[in-house]
Amino acid sequence: MLEEIKQISLNVKEELTKINTLSELEGFRNKFLVKKGAIQKLFEQLKTVSADKKPIIGKELNSLSKFAEQQYNILKTKLENSKSATQSLDITLPGRHQYCGTYHPVRQVVEDIVAIFKSMGFDVAEGPQIEDSFHNFDALNFQADHPARDMQDTFFVKSNQNDNDILLRTHTSPVQIRVMQAQKPPIRCIMPGRVYRNEAINSRSLAEFHQVEGLYINKNVTFAELKATMIVFAKKMYGEDSKFRFRPSFFPFTEPSAEFDISCYLCKGHGCKICKNTGWLEIAGCGMVHPNVLKAGGIDVEKYMGYAFGFGIERVALLKTGIDDIRYLYENDVRMLKQF
Ligand code: PHE
Repeated sequence: MLEEIKQISLNVKEELTKINTLSELEGFRNKFLVKKGAIQKLFEQLKTVSADKKPIIGKELNSLSKFAEQQYNILKTKLENSKSATQSLDITLPGRHQYCGTYHPVRQVVEDIVAIFKSMGFDVAEGPQIEDSFHNFDALNFQADHPARDMQDTFFVKSNQNDNDILLRTHTSPVQIRVMQAQKPPIRCIMPGRVYRNEAINSRSLAEFHQVEGLYINKNVTFAELKATMIVFAKKMYGEDSKFRFRPSFFPFTEPSAEFDISCYLCKGHGCKICKNTGWLEIAGCGMVHPNVLKAGGIDVEKYMGYAFGFGIERVALLKTGIDDIRYLYENDVRMLKQF
């Protein structure tokens, strides 16, 4: 019987080397390990063996049975694991998207605005965000009692008894003065940057926002040129068939002055909270530079004149992106930012 055990043991070993799949393993089990399998048959036979030989043969048989069982279990776990591994690798699944950082929508709009004005021959300049009241107000022809000088509207950094206070600039117009002081006409320049106003925050306004200032100084500059520049900009930014309008307005530093409006994107002109039910969104102020401002900038008013404009970048960004609340731009929710 020892011979038989040896033979089955060889068979077991040989079969084991051939197993590559779970169904082949099942075949192995049916051949050797089940009740009617080869090993169990040997155990039946063991009953007929004489008592003196039983211990030796029994030991051999036991170790064969144990070996076969062990190998079966090892292969089973191995094959099952590799099965689940191939199952979890579903090559038909769409790949995981890698998100790459992009410019913030406000940054993108600044870049767009700068690119459009550059294509019209404008240079780019910048000025300080912490200004003095000379550049922010006096040089821009604000009267001493102008309400914008009030604490209610302006964040003051340092008060000098009304003598050139230090403040956070309330608009980018002071950069006009700095550019005039630094350059000789003809000047054609845009000045993007961050500005601050002590304002209640709501869906249309923030206390900290961005503007792009524009300044053109040359001989014989006309209001018609200003209008044309604004219209070319609006068409490039919002498309050929965008609707816009000029409204008479007032700024201390321009005369005459106008407000430049774009038809509200949200309500298509019917009226909503963003356009305060007017159907129009005011995106820029503009006008012919006041002679007092030219003088403060050191420009010869007998020879030169100019126009200026100032865009509210967040407003332009709302129109461009279709966002209906300015605050979304600065909550920095990745789900929102990912869309741009
Ligand atoms: N500085 C003005 C504002 O902040 C905008 C403006 C700029 C108007 C230049 C006219 C000319 O509202």
